[in-house]
Amino acid sequence: MIVKKNLKNPIFCIVAMNENRIIGDGKNLLWHLPGDLKRLKKMTMGSPLIMGRKTWQSIGRPLPGRANIVLTKSISWRADGAIVVNSLKDAIIKADEWINQNVEINHNIIQKKIFLFGGAEIYKLGLEYCDNIEMTKVKFDIETGIKFPKLNEREWKKTKLEHYLATDDIPEHSYWHYKRIV
Ligand SMILES: NC(=O)c1ccc[n+]([C@@H]2O[C@H](COP(=O)([O-])OP(=O)(O)OC[C@H]3O[C@@H](n4cnc5c(N)ncnc54)[C@H](OP(=O)(O)O)[C@@H]3O)[C@@H](O)[C@H]2O)c1
Repeated sequence: MIVKKNLKNPIFCIVAMNENRIIGDGKNLLWHLPGDLKRLKKMTMGSPLIMGRKTWQSIGRPLPGRANIVLTKSISWRADGAIVVNSLKDAIIKADEWINQNVEINHNIIQKKIFLFGGAEIYKLGLEYCDNIEMTKVKFDIETGIKFPKLNEREWKKTKLEHYLATDDIPEHSYWHYKRIV
């Protein structure tokens, strides 16, 4: 069992979704937002990421400078560059170990936080342990796909950080910080 108040490092959720909470089509992201990808890289660099096996496969490679902790129910699945685990509890243990080991080597770069990196199954599993969500809202007209869990709006204080209007090839999008208040 995971007891939230005993977490050694806070878990931040990071996600991009449209108005219908769609995050992907099951294989890939649906939009290409270069600015959002840069922001995500900057925000997560030096941290462990906890992701599902399907998200790992959709990325297709380990993200450098970060621990790529991949959840699967398989006891034999392996992939180069992935730290493979079979439970969220083990994912958090590995993330804490990675932070401890790496902070000694390079304390300037390592951030003492863990990112819940998706996809939907992993958000569903780990969201209750997150007090912060870094959310990108994308104006993108699609109603079906893989969905982020429905949030109880009363539990979160929402702050809009930045807003970008659509250009020829980039949809309108905005960056939000959600802070849990209850
Ligand atoms: N927009 C965004 O911010 C964002 C972020 C991340 C991903 N995505 C998108 O989300 C989609 C993938 O999401 P998804 O929900 O289909 O898959 P997912 O959450 O990435 O991965 C699901 C897999 O995780 C493993 N898993 C789930 N629960 C587990 C548990 N309790 N214990 C151990 N392993 C567990 C299972 O792997 P096994 O089948 O191997 O057992 C399961 O099939 C893709 O389209 C991706 O592009 C979007």
